[in-house]
Amino acid sequence: RHVLRPRRPAARAAPVVAVLLLLSGCGDAGVDGTPGAAGLRDPYFPKLGNGGYDVTHYDLALAYDPKTRRIDATAELTATATQDLSAFNLDLAGLTVRAATVDGAPAAVRRAGKELTLRPRADLDKGEVFRTRIVYSGVPETVTDPDGSEEGWLPTADGALAVGEPTGSMAWFPGNHHPSDKATYTVTLTVPAGLKAVSNGRPVSERTADGRTTTVWNSPEPMASYLATVAIGTFRTHTGSVRAGTSAGLPVVTAIDPSAADAEADALLARIPELLDWQAENFGPYPFSAAGAIVDRPGDLGYALETQTRPVFPRTAFDTATLVHELAHQWYGDSVTPESWRDMWLNEGFATYAEWLYAEDFEDTPAQDSFEDAFADEANWAFPPAEPPSAENISDAPVYGRGAMVLHKVRRAVGDDAFFALLRGWAAKHRHANASTADFTAYAETVAGESLDEIWDVWLYGDGKPRSPED
Ligand code: ARG
Ligand code: ZN
Repeated sequence: RHVLRPRRPAARAAPVVAVLLLLSGCGDAGVDGTPGAAGLRDPYFPKLGNGGYDVTHYDLALAYDPKTRRIDATAELTATATQDLSAFNLDLAGLTVRAATVDGAPAAVRRAGKELTLRPRADLDKGEVFRTRIVYSGVPETVTDPDGSEEGWLPTADGALAVGEPTGSMAWFPGNHHPSDKATYTVTLTVPAGLKAVSNGRPVSERTADGRTTTVWNSPEPMASYLATVAIGTFRTHTGSVRAGTSAGLPVVTAIDPSAADAEADALLARIPELLDWQAENFGPYPFSAAGAIVDRPGDLGYALETQTRPVFPRTAFDTATLVHELAHQWYGDSVTPESWRDMWLNEGFATYAEWLYAEDFEDTPAQDSFEDAFADEANWAFPPAEPPSAENISDAPVYGRGAMVLHKVRRAVGDDAFFALLRGWAAKHRHANASTADFTAYAETVAGESLDEIWDVWLYGDGKPRSPED
């Protein structure tokens, strides 16, 4: 179980910067650029992401034909070199790269597995901002996760759905696909007229010409690539608004497949503004400039996902608890994003705790009862939440249920006032950024004003089940 890493304090994931310095130190020394690393050494997905640069913006334009299931696409990335670079990698699974440029000049292209290497005509200097444009096409892949679920590009009866946790986004655009490199996005989708094309963020424009509809979406706040989504189909869309602790109202764009729509689903969609207002009271101001949800047919997707601003649900998973869960992820996961895939409990523990808070506020079920139920559930005791044994376990029960139990133990230790201040303070401190488990334990101890080692040792890192929920 502990082969992945030693325990705290050495357990803290090496900061990405240190890894990059180490890697760049292994190459040719001197003034010449060296190739950027092919991966960021994530403890579960070591090849995800790439070293030597930091993407600040993705401008993606995709045309999709549901008949051939092909995309024809262009990705333009704005990035900053974090070292002198002779070449750099992007993650891309499948698809054919037709052409690539760096700052307008053709770049040499090499493909090896899921690594795309671009060699610009001239080296890039450390600190330099550059633009790279990749023209690509083909039938995007559906990726099977280590845990057997499906992600990537999922063709549906009338369109497609793109979901990317943890590694699926490389199936539809080249990028630095590790959660530690967040960027803003513009997504332009062209589809046959009559279909809707929905993505993350604010709707910018929609126009139809020559039998094709082009829709533009903009995400002005940073997003991890696994949270990018595309939903193409005969959706029924609706635009409302919400304050959610912000001074200006935000657009709430929902899309539902007509065959998935019924009175219950419509009533739940209509509750999104109210739920976001409630969460903003508990978690602090909603972190993004748009909100919403996408509900597709059962069978198109096996699970719900907290895609940024606009979580996606198969109709079968579109219920109150799951909606509360995915909306809570907007603060915990999407705005405050894990530093590595080992920190997944920071996503799922908080989102599960949001369900417990909903039950407490709306259903007369104290969080203590939810905690005791979770304690009694043997599935939650397979491994400690901060140390999933392997990549196939990062979405398993302990990451959710036992992650939420950790938060409840902190609440019991510090009291309600300090705990709700912690929920808000954590979201504010790492807003639009990344955070690790070590960042969380240090922050919680600052709020508590004392060591919480006993909680971390037993509930976060301990093997096996404590004798009693009071341990
Ligand atoms: N993060 C999603 C949620 O908690 C679940 C994703 C499941 N994905 C998977 N590969 N098992 O809402
Ligand atoms: Zn979740």
